[in-house]
Amino acid sequence: MITVHLIAAARPNFMKVAPLYHVLAESDWCSPIVVHTGQHYDANMSDRFFEELGLPTPDIHLGIGSGSHAEQTAGVITAYEAIILREKPDWVVVVGDVNSTMAVTLAAKKLHIPVAHLEAGLRSGDRTMPEEINRLVTDALADVLWTPSADADQNLIDEGVPEEKITNVGNIMIDSYELLRDQIENEKAPEKFGLAAQPYGVVTMHRPSNVDDRETLTLLTDHLCEVSRDIPLLFSLHPRTRKNLQEFNLLNLLTEAKGMNTTEPLSYIRFMGLVRSAKFLITDSGGVQEETSYLGIPCVTLRDTTERPVTISLGTNRLAKPDQIVECISEISAGTWPKGQCPPLWDGRTANRVADDLLKRSSDA
Ligand code: UD1
Ligand code: UDP
Repeated sequence: MITVHLIAAARPNFMKVAPLYHVLAESDWCSPIVVHTGQHYDANMSDRFFEELGLPTPDIHLGIGSGSHAEQTAGVITAYEAIILREKPDWVVVVGDVNSTMAVTLAAKKLHIPVAHLEAGLRSGDRTMPEEINRLVTDALADVLWTPSADADQNLIDEGVPEEKITNVGNIMIDSYELLRDQIENEKAPEKFGLAAQPYGVVTMHRPSNVDDRETLTLLTDHLCEVSRDIPLLFSLHPRTRKNLQEFNLLNLLTEAKGMNTTEPLSYIRFMGLVRSAKFLITDSGGVQEETSYLGIPCVTLRDTTERPVTISLGTNRLAKPDQIVECISEISAGTWPKGQCPPLWDGRTANRVADDLLKRSSDA
């Protein structure tokens, strides 16, 4: 029996950890232990996801919370180092690209514990994104790189990573959708927001490049309000975004705009229940670019780059600047947006491929 720490830290991690947890928990060769770093801690950013995704109360909770990049990263390194010394796991699995992903990898590798990175190899090429630094450091140190798409394999090979470390396993986010598909479809989420009778769009935003700068957030607010005058929008407000809308005196403008519905962060089932029936998404989220491509829903991504290019080349995603939002929505309404297709191995079976690869690598070791 091998012991594996599965590291969960922030909202986008939970739907990547859950499918793997379930497959490993059912196996007779692995004992998965969920470690929560506490990077996200509000009930609607963490606990609700554990409940809906069937994750156990974390076996270990580091309680790190918010802080500057250095504070958060250093806090996780220090706290997790003590856990490794005590628990000595056989493997550590990190997911995604948040500060905790990189911090745990550093702590584990310094103590010679093998690390596997799920969602490895994604690159935006933009080192002003904190996540890009986290991806580069994590992938440089990890022993096993589980990638979601062929472009990610190529990025790693271009960086000199030996091919035997890389396995293309597909997209683990899709496993969570498939695990909860029935509940998502039965949620009747549009009805709960009075949106069932007409086409509507869903908005999420939280990238510092969009929401930390007053001028950019003002411009985005103006363009979103312009769209909502024609098509109702449901805007799920991330805590970082809400805080800045308040600070820049934009929150009232947004909440009082015609057709604009704002809400606290939504649970996974309710959020995906809204996404699956939406006419379009406007977002800067990494995960949402993938979920919309899987579901064939047009996605306007408010960024200059994406680390998920397959969502553009095969999927339904397009990058846009704030002043292109209205034009994009007109195209979607006119029905001329690309229909897209599902990328290879985004099939709900990624967790099984990850488990098979982990077993093989553990047996070979
Ligand atoms: C983090 C990740 C980002 C990911 C996002 C997903 C990093 C560098 N960033 O960004 O990659 O896309 O999560 O949502 O790791 N806050 C709360 N309650 C919470 C969590 C945060 O109020 O439960 C507020 C705090 O004011 C905090 C701020 O949100 O300072 C930002 O949180 P933080 O985890 O530092 O970064 P995110 O913007 O959430
Ligand atoms: N999500 C959710 N409720 C919301 C907004 C997002 O359940 O109100 C889910 C959704 O599945 C999305 C995931 O959280 O793909 C990722 O979240 P986020 O955008 O915070 O992180 P990123 O993917 O940008 O790192």
